[in-house]
Amino acid sequence: MTKYKAFVTRQIPQAGLDSLASTVDLEVWPGELPPPYETLAEKVRQVDGLLCLVTDRIDRQLMESALPALKVISQMAVGIDNIDIQAATGMGIPVGNTPGVLTEATADFAWALLMAAARRVVEADKLTRAGGWKTWGPKVLLGVDIYGAVLGIVGFRRIGQAVARRGRGFGMRILYFDRSRDPAAEEATGAAWMPFDGLLDEADFVTIHTSLNAETVHMFGADQFARMKRSSILINTARGPLINQPDLYTALFNRTIAYAGIDVTEKEPISADDPLLTLDNLVITPHIASGSLQARTKMALMAAENLLAGLRGERLPNCANPEVYR
Ligand code: DGY
Repeated sequence: MTKYKAFVTRQIPQAGLDSLASTVDLEVWPGELPPPYETLAEKVRQVDGLLCLVTDRIDRQLMESALPALKVISQMAVGIDNIDIQAATGMGIPVGNTPGVLTEATADFAWALLMAAARRVVEADKLTRAGGWKTWGPKVLLGVDIYGAVLGIVGFRRIGQAVARRGRGFGMRILYFDRSRDPAAEEATGAAWMPFDGLLDEADFVTIHTSLNAETVHMFGADQFARMKRSSILINTARGPLINQPDLYTALFNRTIAYAGIDVTEKEPISADDPLLTLDNLVITPHIASGSLQARTKMALMAAENLLAGLRGERLPNCANPEVYR
């Protein structure tokens, strides 16, 4: 039997690769960094299927040049803003993604950032290692209470709701903003819908869980920071361009808002000389919110399943552009 051919743009968890080994002739990019765009385009022209990551730019030109052989694009992520979905649909290429399996890991991590920011964990670690722990001090590194505070969740689908469930354990009043209300989720989490501006006015913690698109790009900028409480803390584990980054720097520097915890930036990776990195009131991590061993293994397996289905001409179990089948 002739095997299908696919290109995988990085070393993904082995379970995903193993599940494809008997049916697909895989070329896996060996580098620690993503393949350069030109290399990726050349590789895609030689295969029937592509398994890619959020770090790969999949645009119209790249897909067009791989037709008619390219049958499926399977992304090992839930977000697909690096892929021109409209163009893929127009060309009849199904695009797979991995919703659900990273929900709890990402919600856990949003909470890790929230707690680190509220209680200044990173600053405390730095101070201790630098020999700054001189005594127990009544006013040393004071943070703010999480228990009983107001949690504002922007984007209330799987991950936003998982964050809300955790908030209940902290006795929080939970507000959410999403374009549409979800009464079942409100009932399950105890969260109440608020207009965006109202949420910004009231929340002690604002955490972002919305997808990036033309409407949501820069939904946080100077005007939104000015509305937020001066004591508020902003968390972003979704996508960097949801926040206007120079405005975030100014808001943190001037203490318009108190603190931020971010796992994503406008340009990734952030450059080493970015002014944000000079701030003490920021905790920053390198886009690892879904990075538990369990979640990443499930993501790899789900991406492999999508890839195989597409190669076989079957409907993808998790398809980000189901309109391709109409
Ligand atoms: C996603 O899945 O969209 C994340 O950003 C990567 O895990």
